Amino acid sequence: MKIFNKNDKMSSLVTSNYNLLPVINRFGIRLGFKEKTIGELCREQEVNADFFLAIVNTYNDENYFPEAELLSFSPLLLIDYLKNTHNYYIGYVLPKIERLLNQVLVSCGNDCASLKMIGSFYQKYKHELLLHLQLEDEKVFPYIIDLYKNRQLRNDQTSIQVFENEHTNVEEKLTDLKNLIIKYLEPGYNHNDMNEFLFALAQFEKDLYDHARIEDNILVVQVEKLEQELTQQGSR
Ligand SMILES: [Fe+2]
Ligand SMILES: [Fe+2]
Repeated sequence: MKIFNKNDKMSSLVTSNYNLLPVINRFGIRLGFKEKTIGELCREQEVNADFFLAIVNTYNDENYFPEAELLSFSPLLLIDYLKNTHNYYIGYVLPKIERLLNQVLVSCGNDCASLKMIGSFYQKYKHELLLHLQLEDEKVFPYIIDLYKNRQLRNDQTSIQVFENEHTNVEEKLTDLKNLIIKYLEPGYNHNDMNEFLFALAQFEKDLYDHARIEDNILVVQVEKLEQELTQQGSR
């Protein structure tokens, strides 16, 4: 798969993989790219082009994960990006999935038992996911920002490890939901609507997987390193 660089046209990024469009939008870059390159548009929008490329290439090719490069970026830059992603999930993806689910539920004829089961599984899943995002937005990210700005460990023995243990595997639950539909759903609904719902789940699953990969393999690793440094300096 192609690895994009600063001299590639921004338009070629989208035409080669339309799923990258929401990822690009998270950086504040919108359609209407003209003939501009990735480097030019990033400069215009005051986006760090190397960081932008590391993220879009990670999303574009699941075998590409520039761990060393990603580790070199400021965690504050990462958090900014991760927060934008959370807002995208909460404000757009979840309402869209829910709308599609309701559309299928409305189309159901007589026997809706398995469909209703999928509906309640989804509601439970959504609840857990929102709690997870909330924990990161309200506890984990502020902890990290504070640690980087003040370079001081907290007196209450809090460490990223405490949060990492609470990092539920939300993406695995989504895979379960998808498999439940594919393997056990009883007929009796509008299949086009159901397919649309399933496609939206699959796209979200991929996005969440890459999101969690960046959190676990980059952000947590960076924070653990800083905590170790601060412990050695005896900052607590
Ligand atoms: Fe997150
Ligand atoms: Fe997470």
